[in-house]
Amino acid sequence: MPRPKAQLKLGAFFNPTGHHVASWRHPQSQADANVNFQHYIELAQTAERGKFDMVFLADNLAMREASMEALSRSAQYISNLEPMTLIAALAAVTSRIGLVCTATTSYYEPYHVARKFATMDHISGGRVGWNLVTSGTFAEAYNFNRDAHFGHAERYDRAREFAEVVVGLWDSWDDDAFVRDKEQGLYFDPAKLHTLNHKGKYFSVKGPLNTPRPPQGHPVIVQAGTSEDGMDISARFAEVIFSAHWSIEACKKYSKEVKSRAAEKFGRDPDHLKVMPGLSCFVAESESEANEKYEFMQSLIHPIVAREILSTILGGADLSKYPFDGPVPDLPMTGGSQSTMQSAIDMARKENLSIRQLAMRMAGARGKSVIKGTPKQIVDHMEQWFVEEAADGFNVMPPYLPGALDDFVNLVIPELQRRGLFRTEYAGRTLREHLGLPRPRSRYEARADHAAE
Ligand SMILES: Cc1cc2nc3c(=O)[nH]c(=O)nc-3n(C[C@H](O)[C@H](O)[C@H](O)COP(=O)(O)O)c2cc1C
Repeated sequence: MPRPKAQLKLGAFFNPTGHHVASWRHPQSQADANVNFQHYIELAQTAERGKFDMVFLADNLAMREASMEALSRSAQYISNLEPMTLIAALAAVTSRIGLVCTATTSYYEPYHVARKFATMDHISGGRVGWNLVTSGTFAEAYNFNRDAHFGHAERYDRAREFAEVVVGLWDSWDDDAFVRDKEQGLYFDPAKLHTLNHKGKYFSVKGPLNTPRPPQGHPVIVQAGTSEDGMDISARFAEVIFSAHWSIEACKKYSKEVKSRAAEKFGRDPDHLKVMPGLSCFVAESESEANEKYEFMQSLIHPIVAREILSTILGGADLSKYPFDGPVPDLPMTGGSQSTMQSAIDMARKENLSIRQLAMRMAGARGKSVIKGTPKQIVDHMEQWFVEEAADGFNVMPPYLPGALDDFVNLVIPELQRRGLFRTEYAGRTLREHLGLPRPRSRYEARADHAAE
C-alpha cells in the first residue's frame, strides 16, 4: 500500500568540482573548487534558494591511493578543504539550510567530535549534522600512527562506543545550566552539570564537555553503511542514512530492514530514520538535450582515469597488461564490492564491450547509477521511489558544480513543488525541524523523570 503523499527530504552532496570523475574539466565547473571558498558560498546559497534540507560534505583523512598517472588527472579525494572548518564558515553565510559533514570514528577522538559538532551547532543556530563513518580506505591509517587500518568488525565496535561517548558528552550540561546571574554572582548551576565518567574498551573519557548543550540537543547523526555492522550502527544511532542503491527493489528492502531493526532492536520510532539514496542526474528541458549533456560529460573522461577506476571496480586487477581495445579478461572475484564487480562483468559480456568501452561506461559515476531526462522524467523517478517507500528523500549528487546544481534547482525543484512533493519555504529553523525529527531530551532529564515516577 503506497504511503499517502508527504514531502520528501533533499540533501545537496558537494564533491568540490562535482561527482562525475571528469567534472573538473567541464566548462560549467569550478576547476579550483578545492581552494575556492567563494565557490562553496555560492553552492550553499543556491541549495538554500532551492530549500534543500541540507548540504552534505564527505571526507577522508588521506589522499586517495592509485597510480600517479591516473591520480594526477583527477580532482576527487585528492586535496580539499577540511569540512568541519568549511561548515563553520558556511554557517555564517546561510541562515536556514542544514549543514552536514563527515568525521571518522577511526581516527578522531570522541571528545573532539562532540566538541566540534556542538560548537558548529551553536554557530549555525542548530543546523548541523555529523556523518559518522568508520573510514573505508587503508591510506588513512598511515597518517595516524598505524601500519594498517582496523578490521571491519573492530572499526564498527569502536564506532559504537565512540558514538555512545559523543552523545553522552552532548548531554554534559542541561539546557538551562547557565544561569549567568550577575546579581548573585552565579554563572552556572552545579546541579545541571553532569560528568560522563566513561571507561570502556576503546575510550576513557571523564567529561564533562567544555561546550554547552547543542541547540538541537544532539546534532543530527547521519550514517551510510550497508554491511551487517553498518546497518546495526545505523539502526541504533542514525537519523539519516545515505544509501547507494541502484534499484528501487533493493533500496525498498534495505529501508524496510533497517527501520524494523531500529524499532525492534533499539525501540526507536522508524519514522525518525530517513533513508536518502544518492541521486546523480543530468536534467534539461528536452530528453535529447539531457542526453547531449551526459555524452559531453562522458567525452571528457581521460582513458587512463577510466582504466584506473574500472580496475578498482574489478577488485584491483592490473588492466594495463591487457590491450585497451581488447575484450575484458576473466578475473577472479576478489576484494571490494563483489556485486558491483559482477554487474560490470555481466554488462561487458552481454554487450561484448572492450576494456575501453566498459571503463568509459563505469568511470563517470564510479559504478554508481546516473539518470538523465526532463524535469518530469527525473521527478517521476523520485516520486516513485518516495511513494513506494524505497526512499524518504534523496542525496542529490550533481555531476559538475555549480552548473548541474543550478539545473537541479531551476528545473527539478519547481516540478517537485508543483506536485506538492517538496516545500516551497522553510517552516523550521533547525535541521531537525526540516527533517521532522524530535529534539532529544537529555539522558539526565529522562532519568530524573523516571526516578520521580
Ligand atoms: C553517500 C555516501 C557517502 C559516504 N561518505 C563517506 C565519507 O565521507 N568518508 C568515508 O570514509 N566513507 C564514506 N562512505 C562510506 C560508508 O561510510 C561505508 O563505509 C560504506 O558505505 C560501506 O559500508 P560498510 O562499512 O557497512 O561496509 C560513504 C558512503 C555513502 C553511500
